[in-house]
Amino acid sequence: MPEDGVILQVKNISKSFGGIRAVDNMSLDLHRGEILGIIGPNGSGKTSLLNLISGFVEKDSGKVFFKGKDITDWSAHKIADAGLARTFQIVRPYPTLPAFKNIIPALYSPRSRRGAKGSLGDRDAVAVDLLEDVGFERDARVPYKLAGTLPLGYLKRLELARCLAMTPELIICDEIFSGLSMAEIAGMVPLIERLQMQGITLIMIEHRLRELFRVANRVLVMNFGEKLAEGVPGEVMADEKVKKAYLGEEVKEVAVRRARPEGKALLEIKNLMLFYENALAVNNISLECREGQITGVFGSNSAGKSSLMYTISGIILDVKKKEEMRGGERITWFGEMRFNGEDILRLKPDERARRGIILCPERRRIFAESSTLENLKIGGYLARHDRAKTMEYVFELFPELKKLKGRQGGFLSGGEQQMLAIGRALMAQPKLLLLDEPLLGLAPAVEVRLAQAIRDINRDLGVTILVSEQYARPVLPAVDHCYVLENGGVVFEGSPEEFQNNPDVMGAYFGGL
Ligand SMILES: Nc1ncnc2c1ncn2[C@@H]1O[C@H](COP(=O)(O)OP(=O)(O)OP(=O)(O)O)[C@@H](O)[C@H]1O
Ligand SMILES: [Mg+2]
Repeated sequence: MPEDGVILQVKNISKSFGGIRAVDNMSLDLHRGEILGIIGPNGSGKTSLLNLISGFVEKDSGKVFFKGKDITDWSAHKIADAGLARTFQIVRPYPTLPAFKNIIPALYSPRSRRGAKGSLGDRDAVAVDLLEDVGFERDARVPYKLAGTLPLGYLKRLELARCLAMTPELIICDEIFSGLSMAEIAGMVPLIERLQMQGITLIMIEHRLRELFRVANRVLVMNFGEKLAEGVPGEVMADEKVKKAYLGEEVKEVAVRRARPEGKALLEIKNLMLFYENALAVNNISLECREGQITGVFGSNSAGKSSLMYTISGIILDVKKKEEMRGGERITWFGEMRFNGEDILRLKPDERARRGIILCPERRRIFAESSTLENLKIGGYLARHDRAKTMEYVFELFPELKKLKGRQGGFLSGGEQQMLAIGRALMAQPKLLLLDEPLLGLAPAVEVRLAQAIRDINRDLGVTILVSEQYARPVLPAVDHCYVLENGGVVFEGSPEEFQNNPDVMGAYFGGL
């Protein structure tokens, strides 16, 4: 029996998947009312640990106690009914339902005090309130938008609202900060503090360390399925083992300049407009990607980054499907778009891919049923030469993927999926590589490696790159030219130096040190 004040006790749990020990003899005690942060490299077993605790995956061995009861063999729903709620790292909302309707099933939980016994209308109202609590702007009618049309930042918060609907005593959050802008996180921190004041215990799995340390009382570091370190944030971060396994080298130098080759414009966009029904998503954007260069597009959630990427790759042209996903909203666009001098605005996505425009989409979109190797081979379908060499290059870039060749894509960890999505795009041997928020969910050391990799890909393979991120900091050392988007329009354009010398954009879009 766990001692007093301990709400959750994990004792020596282990789980292997096909020879890999995802969780290896892990134990932890969680005190009622505390916030425990869990960090660790991609694939170190954090999500697997959560899956084992919450009953989503069967344990090979070990025990779990919640509020003094042995819940080791309980089903996931029985554990949830006992007051242990969880979020999902890879969000899967009901895309064609309004956001607030996604909360309704959770309101039927036997624990739900709010709304469950009321009429349908009452339940809807409670669901909207819960979304408002996590920052869905009611005035802008965000709770009523179809879940499939919302940026990731909202979907992460929708996950939390779904947990709150069940009136939990313990919530385990799997990377709810990733994909959120700094302003959105700043809005979430008081909410998390409030939950703690109400006596709710939290475990937060995160890669956004600065933000995590604002709320966590204690941090546990995992590596290769095991506990590497545990303690207060300051102690843990000073630990040499943690630095080596997780943090990698620090980036001190931000602006790394090099001679800018003045190539011709490979991609030229002029006065591009894109509407979803009457809402303007891309507002009169003119943008160029010069051959051989890396162009950065920075802007917060909803600034228009993904809409721009989809318009360039042509995926937006799959209009019928997109319109269905958006609840029948009409999609219209006009303007000019040239690739290598050719007008491509009316070309289908596959015709653009054949010309070398390859998208690595936000939220990865890898083929969940296919193996890592198959995902890469699918990516290489259009590659004309040296496929094996390109694959070698991908494995050099992401050695993690090599040992996961046979694993089904859907079972990879969040960060491993991100690496696979980038690898799959490279396999197509792009001329213009579109990277939409490539750093999402990557551990700090991998983040640094990826920023370097973007430069290497550009230099070694001669690929022109357009990369979007919420904040400039991690990729600024790599880019030659950058744009900042707000409300679908360009509010700044210039070199990295000009960006850094402009206090307005630097303050708003750099992303802290
Ligand atoms: N159901 C599964 N089947 C097979 N392998 C799995 C399964 N779930 C996880 N794995 C593997 O177990 C290892 C640990 O994955 P896990 O998702 O727990 O990592 P993580 O620490 O959450 O990483 P990230 O920070 O990237 O999300 C990975 O190598 C992953 O590929
Ligand atoms: Mg994970």
